[in-house]
Amino acid sequence: MPAVTFEDVTKVYGENTVALRDVSVDIGEGEFVILLGPSGAGKSTFLRVLNGLTHPTEGTVTVGERSAEDVREEIGMVFQEHYLIENMSAFQNALTGALARNGFLRSLLTWHSQDDKRAALEALETVGLLAEAGQRAGSMSGGQKQRVGIARALVQQPSLLLADEPVASLDPKAARDVMSYMKRAATERDLTAITSLHQVNIAREFGDRFLGVRDGEIIFDGNRDDLTMDVVDGIYYGEGGDGESGVTGTGTASAGPDETSEIATEAVDAAGTAAEGGDPT
Ligand SMILES: Nc1ncnc2c1ncn2[C@@H]1O[C@H](COP(=O)(O)OP(=O)(O)OP(=O)(O)O)[C@@H](O)[C@H]1O
Ligand SMILES: [Mg+2]
Repeated sequence: MPAVTFEDVTKVYGENTVALRDVSVDIGEGEFVILLGPSGAGKSTFLRVLNGLTHPTEGTVTVGERSAEDVREEIGMVFQEHYLIENMSAFQNALTGALARNGFLRSLLTWHSQDDKRAALEALETVGLLAEAGQRAGSMSGGQKQRVGIARALVQQPSLLLADEPVASLDPKAARDVMSYMKRAATERDLTAITSLHQVNIAREFGDRFLGVRDGEIIFDGNRDDLTMDVVDGIYYGEGGDGESGVTGTGTASAGPDETSEIATEAVDAAGTAAEGGDPT
């Protein structure tokens, strides 16, 4: 049974903003899936219907055997703006992940059980921050804050870990660190993970499977080898300039990597390691 199933999901905002268009996809247990696509493609909407923050206009989203709306407590979410409580320590912030399980009042009164405290420390260990457990979140670097955000999501003991551009505001080194800890967390804890990312080169390093989203549709679904520069161009710029035609299974990158990579490199985080062919600037 797939961990996540989208069946003919359409999401329309307002009168006529179609953010997802008849999307159907199965995601298997334990997959680490990365959503790629230009701004406005529908990546955040994909994640939002999955964690119940918004409802599909048509179609169904299933997590395990249940409707996504009924399993919110089993879904951990990491945001670009980590939403940490700056005055609290990394440990206390991680502990707030127990809120989803224990209920608001108990968490507010900080009646945390030994189990919760142990879970918070284990989660901080998973993201490499055990030694910093007592440090005030407000004094941490962007990358560390994001790792606390991951720890908080892990304390929730989710079966599904979602992240919406978790490394968008980080430098490439910190971005890689955060992604590698997220990958480690998913592997260690057998989680299914779905994250949107704008940095194609970083995505390539960590993803098992890539979904290319464009104009609300999944126009590419493949693994790392399938994600050629041509495919990346197609996802971001549309093939032949119209973006309507699918890019699954497009040809090899043999037509001169410099030429084909030029446009794709733009899509890659400017500060990231420029593609294998070397940095043209
Ligand atoms: N709350 C909302 N109300 C109205 N329209 C929305 C809302 N959220 C998203 N949209 C629209 O839905 C479409 C898809 O947006 P979405 O945020 O899912 O894209 P995205 O791929 O996450 O983009 P980005 O890379 O910029 O984050 C866009 O046209 C956007 O303007
Ligand atoms: Mg988005």
